[in-house]
Amino acid sequence: MDIIIKENYEQMSAYAAKIIAKLIRSKPDCVLGLATGSTPIGTYQELVRMHQQEGLDFSQVTVFNLDEYLGIGMDLEKPYHLDQSYARFMYEELFKHVNIKPENIYLPDGLTKDPEEFCHWYEEQIKRVGGIDLQLLGLGRDGHWAFNEPGSSLTSRTRVQVLDQQTLDDNYEAFYKKANIDRSQMPQLAITMGIGTILEARSILMIVNGAHKADIVAKCLEGPITSQVTASAIQLHPGQITVVLDEAAASKLTRIDHYKHVERLKRQYGLAIVD
Ligand code: GLP
Repeated sequence: MDIIIKENYEQMSAYAAKIIAKLIRSKPDCVLGLATGSTPIGTYQELVRMHQQEGLDFSQVTVFNLDEYLGIGMDLEKPYHLDQSYARFMYEELFKHVNIKPENIYLPDGLTKDPEEFCHWYEEQIKRVGGIDLQLLGLGRDGHWAFNEPGSSLTSRTRVQVLDQQTLDDNYEAFYKKANIDRSQMPQLAITMGIGTILEARSILMIVNGAHKADIVAKCLEGPITSQVTASAIQLHPGQITVVLDEAAASKLTRIDHYKHVERLKRQYGLAIVD
């Protein structure tokens, strides 16, 4: 596992975007797993900049999103801040700014009439395109990946999840409150890729910033693997794992010097995933 510690959010985002761009350049028809939340916004902004200024080409890229609230869907008639669907988030933060083809965008359908059938179909589509090359992930404050709340099986597949109180509180603060949407209007359920689904991605890129995540970052990366911190399953991934943190999020790790040493040596020997 490569743990890269950057000074701040901007540098974390730029580094994550570099990793994604490198994959797109080396495999133009790659399959990306994408995440929502406040954390990846800077990464998406940097990818948009690379598209606009450096010609980063999304025309053959396929994407699958991790999750979506159940009961809501994108409504372009509404102003962005009143549309809390993750589909709208992706559209506003990334898709509308780059040349990705609509038919290559797969998002969990929050308005599906048959969630179980939909989840099955979603898994089938991931298989049909040959699996996910790189899965981008944030980290929930309770240690979740996507909406795999504490207690989710570490082999779980795409399914409906009941959201945890901490997640509802955090997402209310980060998104709904600003839009003046009443808490009672927040969806309590979501469709989420499972931990087992995520672990099948050929590589993992997790980004985390902020002092409020420092405790959970330490549990996830240095603590025991447990369904109480579903992202601790990162320790089970057999492929390339890159974790990019800002200094605040890394501050409670016990082996910071070691991670920095590994990063330096990997650069020195040309083994770093990107410069
Ligand atoms: C939500 C999403 C997760 C995300 C998490 C953290 O719960 N379902 O995929 O990682 O929020 O969000 P933030 O980046 O805003 O801290």
